[in-house]
Amino acid sequence: MNLDTIVAWSKRRWFAYPGSLIYGGLANAWDFGPYGIELKRNIKNIWWKEFVQKRPNIIGLDAQILMNTKVWEASGHVGWFSDPLIDCKKCKNRFRADKLIEDYMEKKQDTEFPNNWAAEKTPSDDVLEYLKRKNIKCPSCGALDYSDVKQFNLMFKTQQWVLEDKSADVYLRPETAQGIFVNFKNITDSTRMRVPFGIAQVGKAFRNEISPWNFIFRQREFEQMEIEYFVEPGKDDEAMEMWKKDSWDWWTNKIWINPENMRMREHGKDELSHYSKGTFDVEYKFPWGWGELSAAGANRTDYDLKQHQEHSGVNMQYNDPKTGKRYIPYVIEPSFGLTRAVLTAMIDAHDEETYTDPQWREQTRVVARFHPDVAPIKFAVLPLMEKKTEIMEMAQEIFAKLSDKYMCEFDSRWNIGKRYRRQDEIGTPYCITVDYDSLEDGTVTIRDRDTMEQKRIKVEEISL
Ligand code: GAP
Repeated sequence: MNLDTIVAWSKRRWFAYPGSLIYGGLANAWDFGPYGIELKRNIKNIWWKEFVQKRPNIIGLDAQILMNTKVWEASGHVGWFSDPLIDCKKCKNRFRADKLIEDYMEKKQDTEFPNNWAAEKTPSDDVLEYLKRKNIKCPSCGALDYSDVKQFNLMFKTQQWVLEDKSADVYLRPETAQGIFVNFKNITDSTRMRVPFGIAQVGKAFRNEISPWNFIFRQREFEQMEIEYFVEPGKDDEAMEMWKKDSWDWWTNKIWINPENMRMREHGKDELSHYSKGTFDVEYKFPWGWGELSAAGANRTDYDLKQHQEHSGVNMQYNDPKTGKRYIPYVIEPSFGLTRAVLTAMIDAHDEETYTDPQWREQTRVVARFHPDVAPIKFAVLPLMEKKTEIMEMAQEIFAKLSDKYMCEFDSRWNIGKRYRRQDEIGTPYCITVDYDSLEDGTVTIRDRDTMEQKRIKVEEISL
């Protein structure tokens, strides 16, 4: 399967659609449609249920996207959150220098790095010398004539009016995490949370990515689901092991991603973020190769709280009421991309199947094998005949009853075979057909999406 198949399916059934399309679109902006938002909402709710609702030592937070600029100076994002960019002097296209090098190394299985290699900091001369020596040409036009490497900060900047004629620069947050760190004191002062405990947040993040790509995999505007888990220094390795396991289990046992398409990978020293002492990613085998699905855990140490203590002057120490110890907690951070989770669930569920229909004809169908917990629509209620008033009324009653509990769809148009195909493509686990017999005996036909088996059951028996 390739990504074009997924994008075409997504547009056809409106999971996600190019944004601002009537004006020619906006690079890599995608609007979620009715099935996309349901899928996204389900994933978000499952995450919240597992990590907040079911854990007494994790609580939620909803901080603002716009924060005081000093937050980003303290966190290091103003200084460090940048990509090394390089221009092709001939075709004027712009690339990430580290990506050019890494793609070359992977393709040629070449293990030699440029001199002084550190993706975010390698001096321009070392990069240019390497590109020339290895003959790494511009991927767009094939020239070997590059500009100097320049660091571009990834944060989106905007202005906020402070006085009628004066504005101040503010940034859109590039991660939800900092909203948690700056509220650490509020939370320990106003709640009964005791270390080890976590704070969870779901929300939008923005990054001025130079090369957003692969549908909704890498976007400029996306959503994250993050937990900052505070522990006593020295207990961080143990907490990391817990989060590696819990992150993996969530993907495989709650979102039902096939573990054969996943792996855990530790970051090399050269790829660690400026705040991290060690990071483990859950990776997925995307149609274009292995890619980051989520950070199972990043050991942010006491970096962020210390930085905020230093820059704000507010004491971030925690007083342990049991031991009397005072310390700045260490932090393990599991960070999940919500929009990336939607893409992964779609890729993992998508299937094309050939089968023989009752007339012995060979047919192909697209079927999205979402687990019922994740599926956008749980039941489709299908009256067999639109023109038969009693059948329509009974189907409407069933829809009203089921939709009180589940996300359902009512569809009375086209022949029943076409309606089944449509629901298969959306990933609806069960179709309920109301027919003449239903009027007689109060039963309906329930059709299983995966096996296509049909059986008759009483209306009262319908449930997940
Ligand atoms: N607070 C840590 C942090 O933000 P990250 O590895 O940069 O770490 C965490 O991001 C997760 O957010 C990633 O694993 C990915 O799922 C998602 N993510 C990051 N950048 C993204 C982008 N440009 N578009 C979509 N999802 C993104």
